[in-house]
Amino acid sequence: MPTEIFFGRNQIEVLSKQLKKGNIKSVLLAYGHGSIKRIGLYDKIVSILNESSVKITELPGIDPNPRISSVAKGAGLCRENKVDLIIAAGAGSVIDCCKAIAAARYYNGDPWDFFIRKTSVKKALPICAILTLAATGSEMNGGCVLTNEKTQEKLPMGSIRLKPKFSILDPTCTFSVSKSQTAAGIADITSHVFEQYFSYPDAALQDYMSEAVLKTVIENAPIVLAEPENYEARANIMWAGTVALNDLLELGKDGDWATHLIEHELSAKYDITHGVGLAILTPNWMKKVLDEKNCSKFAKYGRNVWSITEKDDMKTALQAVEKTAAFFKSLGLPQKLSEISIDSSKFEEMAASALKNCPVGRFKPLSKEDIVEIYRMSL
Ligand code: NZQ
Ligand code: ZN
Repeated sequence: MPTEIFFGRNQIEVLSKQLKKGNIKSVLLAYGHGSIKRIGLYDKIVSILNESSVKITELPGIDPNPRISSVAKGAGLCRENKVDLIIAAGAGSVIDCCKAIAAARYYNGDPWDFFIRKTSVKKALPICAILTLAATGSEMNGGCVLTNEKTQEKLPMGSIRLKPKFSILDPTCTFSVSKSQTAAGIADITSHVFEQYFSYPDAALQDYMSEAVLKTVIENAPIVLAEPENYEARANIMWAGTVALNDLLELGKDGDWATHLIEHELSAKYDITHGVGLAILTPNWMKKVLDEKNCSKFAKYGRNVWSITEKDDMKTALQAVEKTAAFFKSLGLPQKLSEISIDSSKFEEMAASALKNCPVGRFKPLSKEDIVEIYRMSL
């Protein structure tokens, strides 16, 4: 895990030392649509960069569900300005976009080639992530997910070379995140754990750690929603988000990732918030894949995370699925696709598209018909 983490209040202060350590002369400062300005983070970063006499090139306006067109623009800016560090100040979309920029800086072709596996990351600029929303884990992993607005595809790619060099995680930067985005982030974190927990082979330590992350999130979720400035609760959710997807929980296992692949289709076609799509799909994915063979794993989840005392595995598993759906509901998240104005018209197309680049589901492989049924169950 090459990413150095600086966690806690005012950790932004480490930035000047890190710039000196890396002999950084020119940075690309990338961010979204202004939240970092509203919370005062932008001013703090710029003042440190100015004090350190570092040249700043800005890339503002990175969208949620980041677009590949921002990548080409960012890579061009990095070349023109001899950038030697990218500072990604924001949430998952900003960090993801910066990872693609870091790789595209050294690639002469179309940046989308990384996502359709036409090329791989051979070299990348170093990245500093300054996280402002707990959700994706992008601050400590090598993955990124970009949308191609022309083809309406949303695809992931990853490389160890894209793991941030260092990340600054100050929970106070998440105080301003709205209730709905906080809830969506929490759904994303829990989904990351499910994708790795429901997998083969079983691994005792990874499973116990996964259950600990889930319990931490379940305990702290109502607190951050009721008290957005509760430091302890925001800190617990933030660190849970990082640990949920920094490779640790998946070591030695084949993560499932079906729910994510099916959700990315919704985000690509309807530009919805990733965590909202996951909250709707996850209980239905569980219902669809649960069978006699795997119900002991769902029962383990029900007993260890939800303290269900029922003896029968299948009954426990079914209760665990209901608890999961009720948890997402308690966060105020939508429970049906129809609540977010999605109808069945693109189900076939999205299911085919999900299967276009790789098989979907390793805990239980899904056919096109299975995926359509999960969408239908979610309507
Ligand atoms: O654009 P700004 O103004 O910054 O506003 C953002 C945006 O509107 C806002 N926000 C961020 N920090 C805030 C804040 N608002 C108030 N106060 C703050 N402190 O939140 C909105 C959503 O931002 P976004 O970056 O889209 O959220 P998230 O972190 O959930 O990222 C989602 C993206 O990450 C991808 C998703 O598919 C989606 O595109 N994923 C990345 C992964 C990875 N790299 O490992 C894995 C995930 O499974 C996921 O697929
Ligand atoms: Zn996710």
